[in-house]
Amino acid sequence: MQFGVHSENISELSDRLFSSILEEQQKVAHLKPADPEKLPQSKSLIESFAKVKGRGFFYDYFSTGRGHGPFTELVDGSIKYDLIGGIGPAILGHSHPLYIRANLEAAQSDLMMCGNLLPYNEAYLVTKKMVDLVSEKSRLRHFWFSGSGSFANDTALKIIWQKQAPKYKIIAFEKAFAGRSVATQDITYNEEYRQEMPKSVDVDHVPHFNHRDPEGSLKRTLDALNQLYDKNGDVYGGLMIELVQGEAGFVYAPKEFYEEVFKWAKAKGLYIWIDEVQSFARTRELFAFQMFGLDEYVDVVTVGKALQACGTLYTEELNPKPGLVAGTFNGGLAALLAGAKTLDYLTQGPFYGVGARFHDLEQKFISRIENLAQTSCKGKIGYCGGVGTMISFEVGDSSKEMTAKFLKELFNNGIIAFSAGKNPTRVRFLLPSSLTDEHIDEVFTIIEKTVLDVFAD
Ligand SMILES: Cc1ncc(COP(=O)(O)O)c(C=O)c1O
Repeated sequence: MQFGVHSENISELSDRLFSSILEEQQKVAHLKPADPEKLPQSKSLIESFAKVKGRGFFYDYFSTGRGHGPFTELVDGSIKYDLIGGIGPAILGHSHPLYIRANLEAAQSDLMMCGNLLPYNEAYLVTKKMVDLVSEKSRLRHFWFSGSGSFANDTALKIIWQKQAPKYKIIAFEKAFAGRSVATQDITYNEEYRQEMPKSVDVDHVPHFNHRDPEGSLKRTLDALNQLYDKNGDVYGGLMIELVQGEAGFVYAPKEFYEEVFKWAKAKGLYIWIDEVQSFARTRELFAFQMFGLDEYVDVVTVGKALQACGTLYTEELNPKPGLVAGTFNGGLAALLAGAKTLDYLTQGPFYGVGARFHDLEQKFISRIENLAQTSCKGKIGYCGGVGTMISFEVGDSSKEMTAKFLKELFNNGIIAFSAGKNPTRVRFLLPSSLTDEHIDEVFTIIEKTVLDVFAD
């Protein structure tokens, strides 16, 4: 069955358009400094956007809509490495052929957005692929779209609440980030993100894994969990965890830690809810829970960002009663098509598994940062870690101020990254799959120069 309009003429024009767009975008695939003549226009656009938005931007960044692979072009004329990918979505890099194709194919359809009432094939494709990609080993059987990662987490919370009523309390982890909806702001650990907010979800936080004390970590977490039950009794419905804590700077534990915590949770009748909004598609497997081999434990998993859509996977048992979850949108047709194509591309290509592309990227980045930390940048780079395409490291005293200074300098030198975490604050990369070894060489020349520049000031 073909969807959308088709004709020989459309195919021919679409192919030509595809090649022409790709050809033009491919010209934006090298570093370039800002053009002094374009700076006033860039400044004015950023300022007027900030004015209507009511808040300024961290970087003097305004996209031209041009860029290729890891490169993005700014209105100031500069071309930089985008190693944060819009905080996650740009997993394939800029103007990836699959993204161009998705846009062109979506133009052959009749609407921009599709939703829950009147189904479209684009939404079916993503749903079917997501369920197929987890079904073999996990009990996850259904997928429900949401408008954001936060809202995917709201859906997870609601279906757990419905099943566990009246056990409405949730256990989450210190340093967690679950989003900024009314519900998820209470799961998010950082209190600064909910100033003057009334509490709407009863959440207790327990310690996650601490890499400085690997042996003591499990005991500390289990003790904290037992203390919650001693104090409050059997009032909890679910345990919510990021296996790789994104906003905390990529904190994660060995498999054994999770297994013991999950066995404890199952014994208490808790549902295990995994937030993969940031980690989805970015570890050494499509899902972090697959990388850790935790398939059998998971009851609910939320995804977003790299999928180009957001949603919640859950088991048959947790399929909610009609009316509990709904909503107008599944997503934009082009975004859903890009999501479906990304799933095929990543799972059928050489990306996942031990020694595959994402593992290789992880090893290259970590070994090169460690090398800098031991040689030219000794005493200037501290911790370095991460997994797959999620890499972080600490600069200087790893304060918020020092990290912001480093990031701004890195940006001026041609690399866009972002921070993560508080005490310590880390430099965070969400790498695109399109990075080559030549790019990595260039990236590390810039990182080294930037570290040295920042400490020379
Ligand atoms: C782990 C995690 N959960 C939830 C969210 C919220 O997603 P969104 O910003 O799409 O609402 C994020 C966003 O950064 C995240 O990293």
